[in-house]
Amino acid sequence: MEYSMINSLNSLFSLQGKVALVTGGYGHLGSAITMGLAEAGAEVYVLGRSQQKFKDAFQKEKLPNLYFQHCDIADSASIARAFQEVHTQHQRLDILVNNAFYSAGQNPEQLTDEQWAFGIDGNLNSVYRCIREVIPFMKAQQSGRIINVASMYGVVSPDFNIYEESPASLNPPHYGAAKAGVVQLTKYFACYLAQQGITVNCISPGPFPNPNVQQDEVFIEQLNRKNPMGRIGQPEELKGAFVFFASDASSYITGQNLMVDGGWTAW
Ligand SMILES: NC(=O)c1ccc[n+]([C@@H]2O[C@H](COP(=O)([O-])OP(=O)(O)OC[C@H]3O[C@@H](n4cnc5c(N)ncnc54)[C@H](OP(=O)(O)O)[C@@H]3O)[C@@H](O)[C@H]2O)c1
Repeated sequence: MEYSMINSLNSLFSLQGKVALVTGGYGHLGSAITMGLAEAGAEVYVLGRSQQKFKDAFQKEKLPNLYFQHCDIADSASIARAFQEVHTQHQRLDILVNNAFYSAGQNPEQLTDEQWAFGIDGNLNSVYRCIREVIPFMKAQQSGRIINVASMYGVVSPDFNIYEESPASLNPPHYGAAKAGVVQLTKYFACYLAQQGITVNCISPGPFPNPNVQQDEVFIEQLNRKNPMGRIGQPEELKGAFVFFASDASSYITGQNLMVDGGWTAW
C-alpha cells in the first residue's frame, strides 16, 4: 500500500475488495467479528463445521458478502482444503481471524492428560495449524493480516474469589496457558513474516460471557464488580478492534496483543 493512496479515514478502515476468513465465525464472539468485517466491506467466509449454525446466526442479516465454508480446525487437511477452496473463488486470502477454540475439563487439580492435550490442541495447536496453512497464500501475494484471538486469561490468572458461588464458570489452567502461547506465537510470526507484507496481531477479549452464563446473575455481578468499567462486554464492542487490525489503519503495527477487556488487566 502506498501512503499517498490513503486519502480519507473511510478508505483507511475500508475492507472493500478484501477476502476474510473467520474460524468459528458463527459463535458468540465470532458472529460480531464476522459482522464487523462484513460491514467494513470484506467478503467474509465463516469457517466452521455446521452450515445450519451459520444460517441460524446470520438469518436476519441477509448480507450478500457473507459465506459459509466447511472447516474443522482440528484437522490440517480440512483447513488446507477450506483455504484452497476460498482461494480458488477469489484468487486471494487477505485476512485470517483465528477465533475458533475447543477445550475439555475444568478442575485445576483433576484434568486428565487427554483433557489437557485436547485443550492445548483446541486453543494453541489449532492456531498454529491455521497460520501454517495460510502462509503460502499470503506470501505469494506479499500481503495479509492474521489476527489471533487470545484472552485476558492468557495474561492474568483468574481471580479465584469470584467463583466461590459459581464454580461451574471456573476458568481452567490449560485454557490460559494455551492463550499465553497464542500471544507468543503472534510475536513469533509477526517477526517471521514482517518483510512479506503480512502483519500478525492478537486481540485478547475480557469478560464476554455468553447468554447461557449470563443466566447466573450472581456470577455476572462478580464480573461487573471486578471490572474497572463495572460491566461485562458486548460482542459488538469487539468489531472496531478487528476491523482496525484487518485494515490499512494498522499497516505499521505487528506483533501486538490488544486487550479489549473494560480495563480488567489494567489493575
Ligand atoms: N466469551 C468470552 O468471554 C471470551 C473471553 C476471552 C476470549 N474468548 C475467546 O474468543 C473466541 C470465541 O469464543 P466464544 O466465546 O465466541 O465461544 P463460542 O461461542 O463457543 O465459539 C467458539 C466457536 O468455535 C467453533 N469450533 C469449535 N471447535 C471447532 C472445530 N474443531 N473446527 C471449527 N470450529 C470449531 C464453534 O463451532 P461449533 O459450535 O460448531 O462447535 C464456535 O463457533 C475463543 O478463542 C475464546 O477463547 C472468549
